[in-house]
Amino acid sequence: MKTQILTKRQTNVAADIIKSGGIVALPTETVYGLGANALDPSAVEKIFKAKGRPSDNPLIVHISEFDEIYSLVKEIPTNAKKLVDVFWPGPLTIILPRTAIVPNIVTANLDTVAIRLPSHPIMREVIKLSKVPIAAPSANISGKPSPTKFSHVFNDMNGKIDAILDGGDCSVGLESTVITFALDTPKLFRPGKITVEQIEKVIGKIEVDKAVLEGVKAGQIASSPGMKYKHYAPNAKIIILDCNRNKYINYVNSKASAEVAALCYEGDEKDLNVLAITYGKEYEYEIMAKLFFDALRKIDTMKNIKTVYARCPNPQGVGLALYNRLIRAAGFEVQKID
Ligand code: TXA
Ligand code: MG
Repeated sequence: MKTQILTKRQTNVAADIIKSGGIVALPTETVYGLGANALDPSAVEKIFKAKGRPSDNPLIVHISEFDEIYSLVKEIPTNAKKLVDVFWPGPLTIILPRTAIVPNIVTANLDTVAIRLPSHPIMREVIKLSKVPIAAPSANISGKPSPTKFSHVFNDMNGKIDAILDGGDCSVGLESTVITFALDTPKLFRPGKITVEQIEKVIGKIEVDKAVLEGVKAGQIASSPGMKYKHYAPNAKIIILDCNRNKYINYVNSKASAEVAALCYEGDEKDLNVLAITYGKEYEYEIMAKLFFDALRKIDTMKNIKTVYARCPNPQGVGLALYNRLIRAAGFEVQKID
């Protein structure tokens, strides 16, 4: 298949493709999404095929104005409304009981649907012009890091989808915060730029799903199917070292070889005797978030590297989102160093 490359001015071409049942990669503020008409099951099926995504992993439905939610969900609890009043348009996804208009393939047969109103002007314009809600997972091959640059999408999707709209780099860099309002109490399924602390300021105490910090053990049922997959796995093995900077540097240097690399913070590289991939300065979590997936993709270009020792982000604020992605990339290998 020939994949058209569209510029920022060609939102109308992207919308025409969506309307006619095709699939287009579109920039959002978090990561690039692979979009299709959410109400057209055969269009949505093409997304699963192009990504190689397991059919039991449901998609997020994107809208461009709040009112578009009414046809998709049964009801909007007060807390959900309060939260989106503060954080929409933006990197927040809410899960609610769905109506029959939402095709089963979108929700992987669940009776809930995930909804997001993104802030990216191109994404919102394409939704508006196509006049349908757009179902979109991240536009990467299943199991690869989410795409935060045009080149990431091009490498994964060229030849597999109808078009890619080049919107430059994504500003947030990690996927949206996902919270469900379909249970007795609100529960966080995926941390993101909108933090637990920010959410609790608006609606009070929320639960955080255990899988956010631990992953889903074999035999357990995932409350959000995406949480059970290893995800973002580079070819080399990533091991997270849970310790302070000094211990990290000493440990990695003690393992130094041509097959070892470090995934660390700016300033660490000068003290390390191995190849270092940095992604921002320690504690500058928003910048780290923006650079993280690109750093993971860089690891994949380093053919001789077999082991990557990663520094362990502090799982607080946006650091929780980073930690959540990193433990998945590491297949949940965290080593405590004393
Ligand atoms: O920032 C984002 O959310 C990006 C952009 C493109 O909007 N999208 C994204 O989609 O990250 P995806 O498919 O890569 O991740 C969606 C996550 C998955 O973990 C999925 O299992 C979960 O949301 N999810 C979707 N619908 C759900 C539902 N009804 N119940 C529980 N989890 C759901
Ligand atoms: Mg994804």
